[in-house]
Amino acid sequence: MAFTPRGGRGGGGDRGGRGGGMRGGRGGGMRGGGDRGGRGGGRGGFGDRGGRGGGRGAPRGGRGAPRGRGAPRGGRGGAGAKGGQRVVIEPHRHPGVFVARGKEDLLVTKNLTPGEAVYGEKRISIDTPAPISNDAATNGETTPTTTKTEYRVWNPFRSKLAAGILGGLEEIFMKPGSKVLYLGAASGTSVSHVADIVGPTGTVFAVEFSHRSGRDLINMATHRTNVIPIIEDARHPLKYRMLVSMVDCIFADVAQPDQARIVGLNAHQFLKVGGGVVVSVKANCIDSTAPAEQVFAREVVKLREERIKPKEQLTLEPFERDHAMVVGVYNRSS
Ligand SMILES: C[S@@+](CC[C@H](N)C(=O)[O-])C[C@H]1O[C@@H](n2cnc3c(N)ncnc32)[C@H](O)[C@@H]1O
Repeated sequence: MAFTPRGGRGGGGDRGGRGGGMRGGRGGGMRGGGDRGGRGGGRGGFGDRGGRGGGRGAPRGGRGAPRGRGAPRGGRGGAGAKGGQRVVIEPHRHPGVFVARGKEDLLVTKNLTPGEAVYGEKRISIDTPAPISNDAATNGETTPTTTKTEYRVWNPFRSKLAAGILGGLEEIFMKPGSKVLYLGAASGTSVSHVADIVGPTGTVFAVEFSHRSGRDLINMATHRTNVIPIIEDARHPLKYRMLVSMVDCIFADVAQPDQARIVGLNAHQFLKVGGGVVVSVKANCIDSTAPAEQVFAREVVKLREERIKPKEQLTLEPFERDHAMVVGVYNRSS
């Protein structure tokens, strides 16, 4: 497939653009359920942050504080939201990601640590049929026929990866069992969803150089044992080479002017041939004087110089302004 930037401000794309939600209507929630961008959709539906101008009737709330009549509550140690009969979970096109279809459609991941929220996000508990046991131990009596599975709502206003998935990324290079090197982990909110995606057989190596954010990251990783927190500067991959194996994917969100070089340094060290990079580019962190599309195009050139062949590029509106997600494949030899 030829490389074509997509999205409103990205220029030249044939899909996506304003909207990026799950085919939402104007200012509405995320109803409808495709994963392609529709004009003006994608707002609302996320009570744990109001987002930018959420649609009328959309649940509102401050950071991490879901509220409102009928809004499910989350929070560390709190009761999970009861999805019950009213919510249906469907697998997303990307394995390990799911869509909760109910009053609103929400992107969710399967909670690796049921009963716990990481940052006050909503949780949805679903009854799933359990195999009927009729063996001697039960004396012929039937045992309960359902078990609970818990999902965590993934807010695209708080996670660029979630915004990219809702925007219609074709490839994210992570699925159950994958090894992911995550650069710019911050306090680990998005990392926790990546940990849900890769599941117990996968690993997330999460690099963050701020000790302050790193404390929360380490705390999150004590509950999610598939996350290896690394408090180091991603510009110096040799410092953490003993902790990181070869990976299937590098996700980068360091918001630094030299991000492409940082990605290259880590790819040459840790990325499998044919592995993927998923890079969030914040235009004004790289050059606040140039138009965003120009900055994105220059970043793509820099990634090519690092032997990363770009596959797709899309803007993250309406969730993030002047941000693009660039996805590419790594070829070790040029
Ligand atoms: C935009 S935030 C990341 C947000 C995070 N990905 C999320 O979705 O929650 C960028 C993070 O990258 C970290 N960072 C910036 N430069 C870095 C570097 N050279 N090495 C490691 N972390 C870095 C910052 O401290 C900050 O926490």
